[in-house]
Amino acid sequence: MKIFLDSANVEAIRSAAELGLCDGVTTNPTIILRDAPGKEHREVVKEIASIVKGPISVEGVGQKKEEIIKEALEFSKWAKNVVVKVPITREGLAAVRVLEKKGVRTNVTLVFSVSQALLAAKAGASYVSPFVGRLDDAGQNGMEVVRGIVEAFRNYRFKTKVIVASVRSVKHVEEAARIGADIATIPPKVYEEMWKHSLTDKGIQLFLEDFAKAKGMRK
Ligand code: E4P
Repeated sequence: MKIFLDSANVEAIRSAAELGLCDGVTTNPTIILRDAPGKEHREVVKEIASIVKGPISVEGVGQKKEEIIKEALEFSKWAKNVVVKVPITREGLAAVRVLEKKGVRTNVTLVFSVSQALLAAKAGASYVSPFVGRLDDAGQNGMEVVRGIVEAFRNYRFKTKVIVASVRSVKHVEEAARIGADIATIPPKVYEEMWKHSLTDKGIQLFLEDFAKAKGMRK
């Protein structure tokens, strides 16, 4: 499973990229406002693109097909690895068909059901982003929706990759991998928790203490 960072925090992205474990980045207007206040989308995306070679998802505000296409073509000029996020609406689906034919990769976003994902795949989207955390918040089971999407895509061998988005916990990441989702896009805070375990810390401490004792014995 690929790991994307769901962030516009350049330091966090740099740190994950240095470790070699950041396969891409996803942003949205809320993330850019939170992580890079006062900065223009263009500036932030270019900075991220100088660090990460994998896909970088960028979201605009166009709602009509022609507006979405116009914005997408502009975003595509910022860096060659830009992927354009398009909301799952009638206009969005129409824009996805045009953009993908033009060679602009799209990530259909704000997906909350298997049927939405199915239409995005039929429209030729490169990626589809089910929002698991927001589904859980609404009292539904986000990971069950992901399971349904992965199953449906396998049945018909769709090329569209599933990005598990709106991740809130390490458990979401683990479930995404168990289900076989292609990608999980993870907030830096959750990413930092992935390699931690209290028993690992305890184990290191014990080995350090025993090493010191063993050295002491050899003297
Ligand atoms: C990423 O593609 C999504 O925009 C993001 O994961 C949404 O996360 P949120 O539901 O925590 O805002």
